[in-house]
Amino acid sequence: MEGAISNLPSRRVAVVTGGNKGIGLEVCRQLAATGVTVVLTARDETRGTEAVEKLKGMGLSYVVFHQLEITDNSSIVRFADFLNKLFGKLDILVNNAAIVGWSATQK
Ligand SMILES: NC(=O)c1ccc[n+]([C@@H]2O[C@H](COP(=O)([O-])OP(=O)(O)OC[C@H]3O[C@@H](n4cnc5c(N)ncnc54)[C@H](OP(=O)(O)O)[C@@H]3O)[C@@H](O)[C@H]2O)c1
Repeated sequence: MEGAISNLPSRRVAVVTGGNKGIGLEVCRQLAATGVTVVLTARDETRGTEAVEKLKGMGLSYVVFHQLEITDNSSIVRFADFLNKLFGKLDILVNNAAIVGWSATQK
């Protein structure tokens, strides 16, 4: 389930793509540990929410999940809408989920 989080305007907001594991998850952990509100995105809702719960279990409260499949334009639009409505800004973007050789014009 995609989460809700209380928005404190003074906190910086970061988005991490592919945040459910590996380098992306560690980037989420480190950003949240330094006081940044983190939007952890993952293409799979179960894996994403489990990752957020893992970080919350470490005492990192300001982490919220939203689904984002970076090759799916409708997913991107839904995510942008969520981000705009909840935060109205983006301070840090970590494009972790990279796909070699993919172009938006291929969709
Ligand atoms: N590890 C290294 O030594 C190394 C070296 C140089 C560069 N990098 C780059 O660093 C980044 C992370 O590496 P990693 O080792 O942490 O990789 P990883 O463990 O394979 O994690 C990749 C993450 O990206 C997600 N992802 C993949 N395709 C996606 C898509 N189409 N839409 C949304 N999310 C997607 C994966 O989701 P799922 O769990 O759903 O698959 C996963 O969360 C990659 O861009 C990689 O190319 C890594």
